[in-house]
Formats: sequence, structure tokens, C-alpha cells
Amino acid sequence: MKLCAILVIMDVNAINKALDIVREQIVSAADLHELDALKKQFMNDVVAPASKQIGTLAPEMRSSAGKVLSEAKQQFEEFFTPVKEKLAQVEQSIALESERVDVTAVEQIVPLGARHPLSVLQEDIAEFFRSISWRIAQGPEVDAEWYNFDALNFGVDHPARQMQDTFYLEKANQVLRTHTSPVQVRSMLENGVPLYIACPGKVYRTDELDATHTPVFHQCEGLAIDKDLSMANLKGTIDAFAKKMFGSSAKTRLRPSYFPFTEPSAEMDVWYENKKGGAGWIEWGGCGMVNPNVLKSCGIDPEVYSGFAFGMGLERTLMLRHNIQDMHDIVEGDVRFSRQFGFES
Ligand code: PHE
Repeated sequence: MKLCAILVIMDVNAINKALDIVREQIVSAADLHELDALKKQFMNDVVAPASKQIGTLAPEMRSSAGKVLSEAKQQFEEFFTPVKEKLAQVEQSIALESERVDVTAVEQIVPLGARHPLSVLQEDIAEFFRSISWRIAQGPEVDAEWYNFDALNFGVDHPARQMQDTFYLEKANQVLRTHTSPVQVRSMLENGVPLYIACPGKVYRTDELDATHTPVFHQCEGLAIDKDLSMANLKGTIDAFAKKMFGSSAKTRLRPSYFPFTEPSAEMDVWYENKKGGAGWIEWGGCGMVNPNVLKSCGIDPEVYSGFAFGMGLERTLMLRHNIQDMHDIVEGDVRFSRQFGFES
């Protein structure tokens, strides 16, 4: 029965009846929320209209009516309060149970990986070349012999083809690229001139894995083609690159050499202060002015344009920079090796 239906007039019986009903409802309340709603309902439907009625009674009747109402309120509190305390306790213990922490549980430690220093180095290199407004170019690791050799001025029977021990694929005229120089050819053909690109990437040669060799390694190629480029531009670029790789006191020097795709060609040495405090010259890579035959193969007029190129091994760069003695450490992928480098550049 609804409480408001009972209380029409200020009547002791009606109030008692309302108390009986609400008591039953309170006892079976499921939670604090329901309980508080019952109290609100009792106040709105019984206490508030009764108080209003008292105000309309003759003055001599008001005090006895007021007494009836305050007794009713007291009774309500007497059965409401213990139920409320009990329900509050139940809810608290449910909450405590659900938030329980087993302090004896064994922690699951997930071992963290580390980025390989070669990946970090390649990003570092890319960052340097972007900072001087060169583009980063990429090419396929399986490439046509034409890109890897012919377009780079290696004649069909040129002894230089044997200079690099090549993995030939069964598919005719396909090789695993032996250097990043075929990316020069692809970039010239695809993008034309002027061109300023760097290409860090993976290359392959049929070497055995030992302390200083690995059949799969990385190089970084640089190529600039424009009007009026000279060896001076080449020297300035590799000096700046060496400083980025080996510190601000690093410098480079060139020694005459031979590559089919550059003329003149040079070996480049780098001078830097190593981590142990020593300093000295050490061979770093190859470079030279792009051979006019290469420009012609790529549809560029060597009478108008000239260019320079350079290339160096990244494993070697890493070994020099960090004084790493054994190539095995670089290729084996032991996370304890990679972790030593953190994210430093
Ligand atoms: N491609 C050469 C090598 O693999 C390096 C090089 C690149 C030399 C560009 C000159 C110019 O040894």
C-alpha cells in the first residue's frame, strides 16, 4: 500500500499504519541506496504532509499532534538506523573483498627488449642527411644485375665484378645487391636532376662470418648530382657527416683509389678521438666523382651535370664508434649487447 494513500488526515492510527508498512519495506531493503530512498519517501509522504496539517490545527491541539509526529519520527529512526548500519557494514566488506591484494603473489616480470644499435645508427644517419636537406632513398635488396653492375660502369667481363663476391639468384640476371650503389641508379632514373640522396640499407656478399666480416651487412650511400659540383663539395659533405658520426673533432682525408662508377675515386679515412682517449686515422669507406658513363646510363648529360658519391659500412662505423671488437656481437642479436647502447645517438 502506498504511504501517501494512508495519510490523509493527522491521525495516530494512520501514522502507525504508515510506520508498519515502511518498517516491512526497510527490513527487506536490498542495499543502502534502496534504504535511503525509503527514508526520503517516508519524509515526503508522511512527515511533511503531517507537519503541514499541524499548522492548520487549532492552537490547543497543535502540541499533542506535534508530539505524535515526533514520536513517529523517533520510532522510524529506531528501526531505520540499525538496518542502515548493518547494510553499510555489508557493503564495506564486499568492497574490501573485491579490492583485496595478495601481497604474497609472485610478480610477473616481463623482460624489456632493446633497439639494435644498427637501427638507431640508421635513424641517426637519416636525421643528419635530412638536416642538410637531402632525401632518404631506398631500393630493393634483390636487384637486377644491370642496376648493381652494368649501369654502374662495370663492363660485362670487368674484373671488378669479381671484386665483390656476389650472391646470384637462380632467376636470370638477379643478384642480392652487393652495395647500396644501385640505389644511385634507380634514384637518378626515377627523380632526375638535381638530386641529393642518402641511402642506408642492407647489402650481401659471400663472406664467412668472422670477427670483421658478415655476409649480410649495411652500408650508407650518398649521392649528389647538380651543376658545378666538385671534389670540394664531396670533402665538405663527408667531413660534416664524420663529425656527426664521430664527434666534433673528427675529420676525413682521401687517398686515390679505383671504383668503376667514380672517376676520380678515393678511399676515405676518418680521424677521430676514440672512447679510450686515443686518436688516429682509420679507413672508413669509398667515394669519388660520379663517372660520366654512369650519368649517361641514367640519361643525365655529363657536360651539364656532375656529381659525387660516397659509401661506407655501418657495422664498421658502429665498431669504430663504440670500440666493438667482434662482428659476432653485432649479428647475434643478444639483447644484453643491444641494451648497452640505450637510446643514445
Ligand atoms: N659501393 C662502394 C662499395 O661498396 C662504395 C662507394 C660508394 C664508393 C660510392 C664510391 C662511391 O665499396
